[in-house]
Amino acid sequence: MIRLARACSRSRPARELLLAELAKVRLADLAAMLGRGERIAMVTAYDAPSARLADAAGIDVVLVGDSAAMTMLGYDSTRPITMDEMMMLTRAVTRIIRRAFVVADMPFGSFQESDEAAVSNARRLAADARADAVKIEGAGSSLDRARAIIAAGIPVMGHVGLTPQSVTAAGGYKAQGRTADDALQILKDARALEDAGCFAVVLEAMPAPVAARISDLLTVPTIGIGAGPGCDGQVLVWHDLLGLSAGHVPKFVKQYANLGDQIASALGDYVADVRRGQFPAVEHTYAMPEAERARFEASAPQAKGQGRE
Ligand code: KIV
Repeated sequence: MIRLARACSRSRPARELLLAELAKVRLADLAAMLGRGERIAMVTAYDAPSARLADAAGIDVVLVGDSAAMTMLGYDSTRPITMDEMMMLTRAVTRIIRRAFVVADMPFGSFQESDEAAVSNARRLAADARADAVKIEGAGSSLDRARAIIAAGIPVMGHVGLTPQSVTAAGGYKAQGRTADDALQILKDARALEDAGCFAVVLEAMPAPVAARISDLLTVPTIGIGAGPGCDGQVLVWHDLLGLSAGHVPKFVKQYANLGDQIASALGDYVADVRRGQFPAVEHTYAMPEAERARFEASAPQAKGQGRE
């Protein structure tokens, strides 16, 4: 961890070189971080550039989240994203990542039907798309799926509290566990996922004291999103963290940059430059030897219709 902290404090090229040398994060490293009381930093990434930047920043766990349905593919919920789409995004990320542990979300419909379907789709994400683990939402029937996938040798991250795949248009994205009974149910679900063999559990959108108590009671790391500081790690969605989201940003998000505004302003400048003929300038063009240029000018037709058959 000291080497990692040092690497993160270097200039960007030096940091990238050093991080590339650092060992890949494994399940045992995440458990060891929990043991040492070190918090786990996790973020979503869905393509090669975001994977490269996340790895260079020292992120411990990269989640290829099904939030890509909304952030990358323009759907209005996470439900429509398919296994093939998740495979493509996961491959783009694992092609680049050297250090971070990569978790791929199992999309809606890819694990609910049967243990066999769940194992077969998890295997595609782990073997073909080279994810280190998969994440499935919910407890209940997801517990059997988690057990089956783990028995097939693929690590599983659980996810309780607000589970976006279950959000209906009427229900909306609401915090969970705000009554004692609901909070106790989330605790029960999180414990059941741990008992099923999950190596970590995401706690999404719940009061901080509920998440803190669950984190104290579990022996595997909890990763919070909208669940307060008492979790063993935190995860945010790439687009929310960097100010790239269109529309509503949840209250629990801390926006570390406003790249959306910077991109809009850069594109506006580009459009204006093109329209005014100010781009490209001389420094953006290729030169040719003067003699060749003169020969070309002399030999090329002088008017539009001239020289055609
Ligand atoms: O898909 C996703 O981005 C997630 C996070 C919200 C944990 O599941």
